[in-house]
Amino acid sequence: MLPFVDLQTQYSRLQAEMEEAVLAVLRGGKYIMGPEVAELETQLSDFVGVGQCITCASGTDALVMALMAKGVGRGDAVFTTPFTFVATAEAIATVGATPVFVDIDAATFNIDPAKLDEAIGRSKKNGAANPRAIIAVDLFGLPADYQAINAIAARESLLVIEDAAQSFGATAGNRRAGALAEIGCTSFFPAKPLGCYGDGGAIFTDDAGTADLLRSIRVHGQGADKYENVRLGITGRLDTIQAAILLVKLRAFEREIEERQRVAAGYAEAIRTAGISLQTPAVPEGLTSAWAQYSVLADSSAERERMMAQLAAADVPSAIYYPKPLHLQQAFAYLGYRAGDFPISEDAASRIFALPMHPYLDEPTIATIVGALRG
Ligand SMILES: Cc1ncc(COP(=O)(O)O)c(C=O)c1O
Repeated sequence: MLPFVDLQTQYSRLQAEMEEAVLAVLRGGKYIMGPEVAELETQLSDFVGVGQCITCASGTDALVMALMAKGVGRGDAVFTTPFTFVATAEAIATVGATPVFVDIDAATFNIDPAKLDEAIGRSKKNGAANPRAIIAVDLFGLPADYQAINAIAARESLLVIEDAAQSFGATAGNRRAGALAEIGCTSFFPAKPLGCYGDGGAIFTDDAGTADLLRSIRVHGQGADKYENVRLGITGRLDTIQAAILLVKLRAFEREIEERQRVAAGYAEAIRTAGISLQTPAVPEGLTSAWAQYSVLADSSAERERMMAQLAAADVPSAIYYPKPLHLQQAFAYLGYRAGDFPISEDAASRIFALPMHPYLDEPTIATIVGALRG
């Protein structure tokens, strides 16, 4: 079977530096908040172009901590997409706020700003929960429409959090993902564009006050010293070993992001020339994707099944992100949504599937994969 994400090739290219970096942490003995963590935060904030970076234990913790720092909780409505990984809405519910789902744009799979506007209006009228924040997700690596989202948020005095778990390395105009809203959250889960060898995440903001709160929340709400607890927090730190790993991977990252552009362009061209009936990803003017996933839309569920079976027969893995939108998941049944509430998300869930995507896919392999799609 071909790898879906080729972490082994990446490791073999970085092996010497990687092993040296990890050994240095083991020998140095500063396993929690060692010097590599501070160094990584400096390098990440420079890379993203924001004043403050707070690393943390996962992308999920990044979202939870951001909501906690902003005091979002019980009685607050947080608008987000139902077509995302569960963590986005889970974080909202974890802090006691109410996820309010908004359907996606059919071309980008990201939250539809016009529908967001309508949902905020409806929420204000029915008064069930107080509109407080928006978490936009950069699905599959493509930034959401922050120009429109930030304008709506400014008008309505709402906080915007960018869920950049999948988009680290993407751009919108001259800004990087993670810097596209008031707070940006990302994940370093191994399969992400920038991944460590365990769980990890980071939060980005230009607001020094918010950054101080996040640093306190990351260590159980600590005050001036460790045993002064001024608020509630979590064990939210990134391990020093993971920071050391990320410092090595960051050196190769810009190149890898370029390689991902090559692979995405190669797929689009090969699918088009082969005349295969599939909707390939749209990248709106002014944006670039980090290509966490290369997701395509088949003409029907049956066509998806057929193509995925052909791929499997040729030892090519594929995956469905996401087969069931969040409003139909049992965990969110208490919100009272029904099938049919978000038709674009439901339709995408029924036809979408993802092809192998990583920086080390060469042209002959892309041709093999597309050949298998054609059958
Ligand atoms: C959109 C999105 N949000 C949040 C997360 C949560 O990140 P983590 O797995 O690091 O907790 C993920 C990834 O797993 C994700 O894809």
